[in-house]
Amino acid sequence: MHRPSIALLLGRASTTVFQPLAIRNVSSTIARRAALSTAAKEAGKPAASPNQVSANNASETQTEKHDALTTPTAASTVPTMVRGDWVLFHPVYSSEELKSVEVLHQAPKNLADKVAAGLVKLARAGFDLVSGYKHKPLPPDYKQWPIQKLRDEGYILDDKAWLLRILFLESIAGVPGMVAATLRHLQSLRLMRRDSGWIHTCLEEAENERMHLMTFMTLRKPSLPFRALILGAQGVFYNLFFLSYIVSPKTCHRFVGYLEEEAVYTYTKCIKDLEDGLIPEWYADYGNSAHMKKQLIGDAKMIDVIYAVRSDETTHRFVNHSLANLNPSNDVNPFALREPDMHTKGKQIAFERDEAEAYVQESHKLLGKK
Ligand SMILES: [Fe+2]
Ligand SMILES: [Fe+2]
Repeated sequence: MHRPSIALLLGRASTTVFQPLAIRNVSSTIARRAALSTAAKEAGKPAASPNQVSANNASETQTEKHDALTTPTAASTVPTMVRGDWVLFHPVYSSEELKSVEVLHQAPKNLADKVAAGLVKLARAGFDLVSGYKHKPLPPDYKQWPIQKLRDEGYILDDKAWLLRILFLESIAGVPGMVAATLRHLQSLRLMRRDSGWIHTCLEEAENERMHLMTFMTLRKPSLPFRALILGAQGVFYNLFFLSYIVSPKTCHRFVGYLEEEAVYTYTKCIKDLEDGLIPEWYADYGNSAHMKKQLIGDAKMIDVIYAVRSDETTHRFVNHSLANLNPSNDVNPFALREPDMHTKGKQIAFERDEAEAYVQESHKLLGKK
């Protein structure tokens, strides 16, 4: 396992598995800025911002071709340009947690849930059709089949088709969290009342999805038609989701929960294909350094990256289905202070409202409040 590398790639600087309450609650930015300030005083210079330090680190490792402020490519955050922890809170998983994810489904509770589930199924069917993806079950003797034959007959995707699918889905998945955070932020300003911790969790999800996209972007330069497709899809989806969230935030979180169910299913299928040796471009024991290099993102193995991303999607599944069980007008976000680990999120689809309440009470006890 290349755990620290995955952590870095996905914007995770911490390798701590359990984030104590204090770290979740108190921004690490404050501690980081204090450390930077002290270091600068010792050196007799004015304090640098975290970004300046990142740039300074980068300049040490940059080739002479680029200066420290200019990103050479859209995906240049991975190798050397950006250093330091400037991302929002994000769970970091142990090896056992990465493997404890199950494909689960939340049964619709009312008509709105049924509509949300139906829309996700429709979107998935449409995207499968456009991208030529078929849900053909593998033949029983597929291990005897040549990989090319399985691909030609539509049983499995090749590495390029997988990547295209992942990039498109991640570019869409980053939208809902930002829309929800924006609308709740505006509502808080408009009504002059506190938000009860929802904004932060929504922003964390949006950033986490964007990090997925940036990570996979290192494997591909997008073509113009692909960019146009994403532009069109984003334009339509952002506005539709924006209007829908104004009408029914609960249904929108349920919709995202169902979307994340599909993401967990897709990445689980990808992991199975990888471990079955059906995507040798990404995961095979060639024992040859040139081939091995192609299987890496940065210096992390593709299989480890996919496991980590699947765990993130499982977090989104759990959080959104749980938020859909709450009253978005008055209930506190139970995950504002901490989140359950993957042994819960991977095996339970969501917290019901009473479980969320018990979880918040437990958080208060941990904080030493009555
Ligand atoms: Fe994602
Ligand atoms: Fe997700």
